[in-house]
Amino acid sequence: MSDQQLAGVTALVTGASRGFGRGIATALSGAGARVVGVARDRGALAELRTEIGGSFTAVAADAADPVVAGQLMDTYRPGVLVLNAGATPLPRPIQYHTWQTFSRNWEVDVQHVFHWTREALLAPAAPGSTVITLSSGAALRGSPLSGGYAGAKAAIRWLTGYAAEESARAGLGIRFVSLLPQLTPATGLGAVFAAAYAARQSDGPAGGPAGPGCSPLTADQVGQAVTDLVTGPGPDQDAYLLTAAGLRPLT
Ligand SMILES: NC(=O)c1ccc[n+]([C@@H]2O[C@H](COP(=O)([O-])OP(=O)(O)OC[C@H]3O[C@@H](n4cnc5c(N)ncnc54)[C@H](OP(=O)(O)O)[C@@H]3O)[C@@H](O)[C@H]2O)c1
Repeated sequence: MSDQQLAGVTALVTGASRGFGRGIATALSGAGARVVGVARDRGALAELRTEIGGSFTAVAADAADPVVAGQLMDTYRPGVLVLNAGATPLPRPIQYHTWQTFSRNWEVDVQHVFHWTREALLAPAAPGSTVITLSSGAALRGSPLSGGYAGAKAAIRWLTGYAAEESARAGLGIRFVSLLPQLTPATGLGAVFAAAYAARQSDGPAGGPAGPGCSPLTADQVGQAVTDLVTGPGPDQDAYLLTAAGLRPLT
């Protein structure tokens, strides 16, 4: 792949301040895209701008706010939209959740995917655009210590599939893809759950932590996988499992 395969493309990444989002923003920028990074932590975004340089625009905002989604889609018209922002659930068994803690990932992760996906379909985004959403391996096998997380991530996979169908039906030419990464201790969210499942002496939730001898997924690998999906000829599916071994299409 040429270094500058995404030259002239604007990519917008939610949750770009740390973890996977930071890796995705860095990789897309490395491929030549102008990157708009959205998150609430101004300081972390400013650090990323120092690292990436002038091709990175930091927007400190709540990605789950529908007005933010509308304004930023109108302003930047991204050709690549990566809906990665996600809350870290409280790591505890179901009976210790309240409805508010249980539904947190619905309010943040699902709500933001809903608003931005709607904007992409209605604008509509330009033909040839790609929208990638972050579901989770937990959507396949559950995640018993994180309340409504697995259900929320399954809803994101479904929502992305519905959007792909609407795009095809209307001939919009917008590609919608969901990624289901395996749990990894490499990020703030992942470290909390890798530790919680280790403490519970479980082998973990869906797409669970890499087993003994398997290396865990890194944020750089997630960034590379997203860039490959956007630029590469690879298999064209609506959903992919993502582990340190790479992308695996889900049918
Ligand atoms: N790590 C894993 O093992 C794993 C596995 C499967 C799926 N995932 C999914 O991958 C995505 C990234 O996870 P991660 O592990 O990188 O988590 P992380 O390190 O905790 O980062 C989460 C990112 O989301 C942002 N965010 C949270 N709420 C936001 C809001 N309301 N508006 C804007 N930004 C918001 C955070 O930024 P601010 O706090 O600055 O707003 C941060 O940049 C999530 O959707 C997660 O569910 C992770």
